[in-house]
Amino acid sequence: MAVNLESSEQVLPPEPDKRYVRDRMVWNPAMHAIPVSGIRRMVNRAAELDDVVHLSIGQPDFPTPKHIIDAHIHALQNGQTGYTMDAGLPELLTALKEYYNAKYRSTLDEDNFLITTGATEGIYLMITAMAAPGREFIIADPTFLLYAPLIRMNGGQVRTVPTKASEGHQIDPERIIDMIGPNTHAIILNSPSNPTGTVYPRETIEWLCQEAAYRGVEILSDEVYDNLILDDIDYPSVLSCATDLDGVAVVSSFSKTYAMPGLRVGWIVADQNTIRTLRRYHMFTTTVASTPAQWAGVAALYGDQSCITEMVTEYARRRDRVVDLVGDTPGLTGYWPQGAFYIAPSLPAGVDAGKLAMRMLEETGVCVIPGDAFGEGSSNLLRISYSTSMDKIEEAFARMQPWLERQPEFARYG
Ligand SMILES: Cc1ncc(COP(=O)(O)O)c(C=O)c1O
Repeated sequence: MAVNLESSEQVLPPEPDKRYVRDRMVWNPAMHAIPVSGIRRMVNRAAELDDVVHLSIGQPDFPTPKHIIDAHIHALQNGQTGYTMDAGLPELLTALKEYYNAKYRSTLDEDNFLITTGATEGIYLMITAMAAPGREFIIADPTFLLYAPLIRMNGGQVRTVPTKASEGHQIDPERIIDMIGPNTHAIILNSPSNPTGTVYPRETIEWLCQEAAYRGVEILSDEVYDNLILDDIDYPSVLSCATDLDGVAVVSSFSKTYAMPGLRVGWIVADQNTIRTLRRYHMFTTTVASTPAQWAGVAALYGDQSCITEMVTEYARRRDRVVDLVGDTPGLTGYWPQGAFYIAPSLPAGVDAGKLAMRMLEETGVCVIPGDAFGEGSSNLLRISYSTSMDKIEEAFARMQPWLERQPEFARYG
């Protein structure tokens, strides 16, 4: 392209007044609530090293089933590239309604659902729509890392319920109920849990739902791992424990169940008034989820479900082995996680998992995530993900075990 340099002076904007020019962005102070992710810190360092074995992965290591990919491509080729209705693709709303009513014996309708861009958007909408100064939210420590920052960004207060590896990271419902006070706004549950893999029993969920309803406290339940239940046990969704939908919302997605996290489709299940309000708010976040990906979701729900059984069988096989390996590792306290693909064993008292995990990565090439990524009270836990092959799991522990034994903090466990 020919440029007329002589005339460039005339077309350049006038020099801005330097007194009003800032050379960097001045953020809303709420941004201070967003921490540097403990996951990123580890994964970024790992990217600089050779020969790393990752036990750090937070997404399924299986390929997305072919019929789901085909539906996605088919939707693209058939012109399904416009916006959908604000609540989501009508066919997906119907598919979800049928799926949930069959799975949890509920009586939901299409207008009990809002399709979101992954469960992440559902969590964002729910928490930011509820959190406000003076309102308290009860969460487990450790728990999924999005909740606390979103609560704090919007002026809410976080109250944590510590859990222990030696107790399988179960929460004590009585303790939570005792914590409820006049400022308690909501309890956020995540079962199966990331980072612990813990599944709460039905008595826990039922008790919490009942007492929360009685006290006018909301329950937000993140159930993205509800299909990854690794033993033959009952999975108590909040939807099958609460007497009605008043004050209860569930967020979930296709990401983990159907190994399609990159397609970014999730949803919120709640009473119709809540969904109506959130539909308005959703217009200001992502408008709608990806249309072809919503068609992929329809195929996932109506298609062959054996892909889930195959994945769960393999996760369970790996879980069994990882629990044995953790048990054989001096200084680690394990337990029996029944869901998702994580375990969060604890280190000997006083050991800082953040420093230890970084040193272990640099010296052995094994990448795990330290517990402080999931809660301020969890700095002596490691999150181990077994969303990787059995060979990689064996290799990682073969490197980790002798290394841990050599650490002075572990000497008395050798
Ligand atoms: C507990 C939990 N909730 C929500 C999400 C977000 O899932 P999505 O991919 O649907 O946004 C994750 C992802 O790791 C998760 O572990």
